[in-house]
Amino acid sequence: LVLVVDFGAQYAQLIARRVREARVYSEIVPHHLPVDEILARKPKAIILSGGPSSVYADGAPGIDPSIFTAGVPVFGMCYGFQLMASGLGGTVAPTGAREYGRTAVTVGAQGTLLADVPETHTVWMSHGDAVTAAPEGFAVLAETSVTPVAAFEDLDRRLAGVQWHPEVLHTEHGQEVLERFLVDIAGCRQTWTMLNIVEEQIASIRAQIGERGQAICGLSGGVDSAVAAAIVQRAIGDRLTCVYVDHGLMRSGETEQVERDFVAATGVDLRVVDAEKQFLDALAGVSDPEEKRKIIGREFIRTFEAAEAEVLADAVSGEGGDKVAFLVQGTLYPDVVESGGGAGTSTIKSHHNVGGLPEDLEFELVEPLRTLFKDEVRLVGEQLGLPAEIVHRQPFPGPGLGIRIIGEVTRERLDILRQADAIVREEMTRAGLDRDIWQMPVVLLADVRSVGVQGDGRTYGHPIVLRPVTSEDAMTADWARLPYEVMETISTRITNEVAEVNRVTVDITSKPPGTIEWE
Ligand code: XMP
Repeated sequence: LVLVVDFGAQYAQLIARRVREARVYSEIVPHHLPVDEILARKPKAIILSGGPSSVYADGAPGIDPSIFTAGVPVFGMCYGFQLMASGLGGTVAPTGAREYGRTAVTVGAQGTLLADVPETHTVWMSHGDAVTAAPEGFAVLAETSVTPVAAFEDLDRRLAGVQWHPEVLHTEHGQEVLERFLVDIAGCRQTWTMLNIVEEQIASIRAQIGERGQAICGLSGGVDSAVAAAIVQRAIGDRLTCVYVDHGLMRSGETEQVERDFVAATGVDLRVVDAEKQFLDALAGVSDPEEKRKIIGREFIRTFEAAEAEVLADAVSGEGGDKVAFLVQGTLYPDVVESGGGAGTSTIKSHHNVGGLPEDLEFELVEPLRTLFKDEVRLVGEQLGLPAEIVHRQPFPGPGLGIRIIGEVTRERLDILRQADAIVREEMTRAGLDRDIWQMPVVLLADVRSVGVQGDGRTYGHPIVLRPVTSEDAMTADWARLPYEVMETISTRITNEVAEVNRVTVDITSKPPGTIEWE
């Protein structure tokens, strides 16, 4: 275990991911965790992240210097590097010149940390202060035009640091430097693999659930719930029941992927609730986006809870009158970090008010993905043999196609949109563009008609909008520049194959001001 101490920079999660990419398990702890608690977790090494402050600023987050003398290897990056320097008697001072972004660094002595790194290379910097004198015992390894001490190491005490951010993509040789610290200085073994994750998770779920009861998991068709369910299934077999609410708002083939391919790949016991009619009835006559969302959300919870109650009632009345029920959720590590919680397979007890069940029935959460990042979840999914369409699925909103039909949602309109959307997805896959774009909503302007001509006749059909976007996190997005040939094929196929559509348009709005979805 390597612990990344988070000093409030946005980089801590990235550092933890890079450490795991080096096949060493890592977790993040907040900087205010007392040093003895950090050490009590018996880390093989500690990494101090960057941070937004100056180490001398009032209220700057600090760390007790005893962390440097506890015998555990420590690596400081950026702010963490400056904390190490100042904590051990070196000097940190404003140099008057800030370094932001790409910076050339000159390696004076490679030492162990910078072994095999070229004498000059480009790194990513973001700092105002600089280390002007290294603490006693440290060898200075690199400098820049404004930073006299840009990297150092003390092999006896197994301490090292760099002023730059080795974790960011723009830093050349960043991953190598991180590995030199982890492997050659801290002596970490590179044994963290997806197979290990799966095996550890299965063992810990067995330990948590034991023989005590029945678990239930809601499947959405997305990767998180699918991987969570697959792991729990491996651990407890048919004591897991999955519930999939088919609200009739899925894209073409997606329900089959869950019903057929996912079940074939995992052997889970799946209950499909066919609620299409119920959802469409509830949506009849509604075209306001917020109202649609509310209706879909409400119907979903109702349906899921009713199915849940049924499964649990069976379990509770089953042999032994077992009273413990487990709810499987696909919570990811970033959610855990952001909500300030610790990692691990901790179980949070909560009382869920599930319709039809006694209120005091205890629920325990099972969260097998609590320690994982999204890209790791996908790797685990591959390891478990889940269908690629699920493992690599792009984000898809809970309300489904319901918010991609502008106007009232009806079965006919859904069918039109499903056909157009299927063509788009097929052509994007054929062009090899699936991993280049973040997601690509296809929108039906169901209340708009325009005149067209096809063959000898006049048409009066609906426009389809393509909304391809690139993004890192869906908070901001840019419109994706699709190759003209791909757009051409998509346009020709949709207007030829989908009778009700006579126009294909492309949305070229970034977010902001546009959102990704149209509703
Ligand atoms: P917007 O349209 O706000 O979308 O730019 C940002 C991201 O969120 C997805 N999205 C939703 N996901 N329920 C969901 O689970 C929703 O109601 C919902 N609305 C938008 C959208 O697909 C995009 O990835």
